Amino acid sequence: MLASLRRTVQTAVEKLGARSYVVSTGSMKFNGGAAEPESDRDEPVSEINPDVPRILITGSLGQLGTGLAKVLRGKYGKQQIIMSDIMKAPRHILESGPYLYADILDFKNLQEIIVNERVDWLIHFSALLSAVGEVNIPLAMRVNIEGLHNVLELSKQYQLKLFVPSTIGAFGPDSPRNPTPDLTIQRPRTIYGVSKVHAELMGEYYNHRFGVDFRSLRFPGIISADTNPGGGTTDYAVQIFHDALTTGKHECYLKPDCRLPMMYIDDCLRALSEYMESPQELLRYRTYNVHAMSFSPEELVEEVRKHVPHLEVTYKPDGRQNIAEAWPQVFDDSGARRDWNWEHRYNLSHLCEIMFNYLKPKYGVK
Ligand SMILES: NC(=O)c1ccc[n+]([C@@H]2O[C@H](COP(=O)([O-])OP(=O)(O)OC[C@H]3O[C@@H](n4cnc5c(N)ncnc54)[C@H](O)[C@@H]3O)[C@@H](O)[C@H]2O)c1
Repeated sequence: MLASLRRTVQTAVEKLGARSYVVSTGSMKFNGGAAEPESDRDEPVSEINPDVPRILITGSLGQLGTGLAKVLRGKYGKQQIIMSDIMKAPRHILESGPYLYADILDFKNLQEIIVNERVDWLIHFSALLSAVGEVNIPLAMRVNIEGLHNVLELSKQYQLKLFVPSTIGAFGPDSPRNPTPDLTIQRPRTIYGVSKVHAELMGEYYNHRFGVDFRSLRFPGIISADTNPGGGTTDYAVQIFHDALTTGKHECYLKPDCRLPMMYIDDCLRALSEYMESPQELLRYRTYNVHAMSFSPEELVEEVRKHVPHLEVTYKPDGRQNIAEAWPQVFDDSGARRDWNWEHRYNLSHLCEIMFNYLKPKYGVK
């Protein structure tokens, strides 16, 4: 037990690369080397601030996690935010603050992290997204459903504030599509969507039954420049910017008029952070829609061509078109605007401007 605790702490210390990070455990304490009696050493040196939340992000090496860690570290301090995933982190991540291996299916390891790292909030990003989930349904069920059960139980046991993102994919062909309200029919037809409805309902149940402070936002397709999308149905809206600046050609897997709600990543991460800070008494729901803009591929192409006029686009719809056809076109997010003052900042033209400002230097385009 002590050996495994020591190993965990030692690994964390090595990953942090911080010699001054010392964790105290009862009468012994560890500084990345041998255990020593408390009295032989100075007081523990730690940059951890007990007055602000210590936050664990699962699946943090994906499209949303890296940016969120940056936003939250800016707000609460570098050591307060622990990134985790099952992949090896690149050097810049290891240098940016705490990073740990955490498999969402390994309950014991998660318990150990929560206890050892004194976690207060859990932001649960690990998931298989819509298109990837359809390719490996058994794995999607494990990661998206069993993983969710693990974080709910952990949140109950350790009184964690829990955020689990939901999605436009939590709706289906029987839902009203334009606009789609917070409360309506949800009969999704992907394993991703089914697992997200399950997460919404289980989270609300754990809130009613055990008082777990569960919160969820239904995000539209998220567009970011510095991280890659993880296999969703809205990925084309990121890929087109890269294609415009590299080959000048884009093949779109959706039909030209397939309208979907979308959001720039800064709005998404700000929504999450503001929602997590909102007092419980303001919240009428535990799951809210958040909306920013809504466009079809042909509308995006028109806007992108203002920056790259020679862009050639062809359309070759595949299985993702079937998924998108059952999803909302426009989200009604009046609940979030009313209850916790949600406001988006980026529309389509602003989004294109910011994507090209970021990506042009990367590809050496003037
Ligand atoms: N990106 C979007 O457009 C979007 C929209 C709506 C909701 N969401 C939700 O936001 C969350 C994050 O999305 P993302 O786009 O960053 O996803 P992503 O696919 O880019 O990243 C998911 C991460 O989960 C990790 N993961 C997979 N299996 C794991 C396991 N067993 N244990 C721990 N980690 C594991 C992966 O390594 C990956 O880094 C997801 O829950 C997703 O459903 C995303």
